[in-house]
Amino acid sequence: MKIDVDDSNWIRPMPNAIISCRSKDGHDNALAIGFISNIATDPLMIMVAIRPSRYSHEIIKETKNFVVNLPTKDFKREFDYLGSVSGYDEDKLTSINTTDADVINAPILTDCPINYECSLIDVYSPGSHDLFIGKVEKVHCDDKYLTKEKSVNWEKIDLL
Ligand SMILES: Cc1cc2nc3c(=O)[nH]c(=O)nc-3n(C[C@H](O)[C@H](O)[C@H](O)COP(=O)(O)O)c2cc1C
Repeated sequence: MKIDVDDSNWIRPMPNAIISCRSKDGHDNALAIGFISNIATDPLMIMVAIRPSRYSHEIIKETKNFVVNLPTKDFKREFDYLGSVSGYDEDKLTSINTTDADVINAPILTDCPINYECSLIDVYSPGSHDLFIGKVEKVHCDDKYLTKEKSVNWEKIDLL
């Protein structure tokens, strides 16, 4: 059966990611994201789609830096909060653990076991969301999720 092409029929399930960023005046923010994808392996690149109305959109467009954090199931309460409240209205990271990224100027969410530091290389505006293309500058992974060969053991991580 054909169904309507409407604004609720996007592909599911979606990955759950949290994008964190830091404004030019040093204010940290993060939002929940479902529209995210790998787009290249050499160099490693990731696309995140963010509506222009989000506070994170304003920050990333200006600073050209963001971190992709992958949460586990036990981070659901925080994920839902970051996905329902805007940094325009609240300081969202006050009770969430962060540390500074190594290569870019942005916070990393330390309770998320995998984090990709990204520098923005391009933005496309095909519709409701703007596509931010990030080049991965550094990847962090909790030691307990690494294989002996030092790659990520995805099967061990209980991703949200
Ligand atoms: C499961 C889930 C997925 C979401 N995916 C996106 C997304 O892909 N792009 C987007 O712009 N907003 C998405 N949102 C909404 C933002 O996370 C939400 O509007 C957030 O409050 C924006 O925060 P900010 O204004 O501080 O950036 C999602 C929310 C949830 C709960």
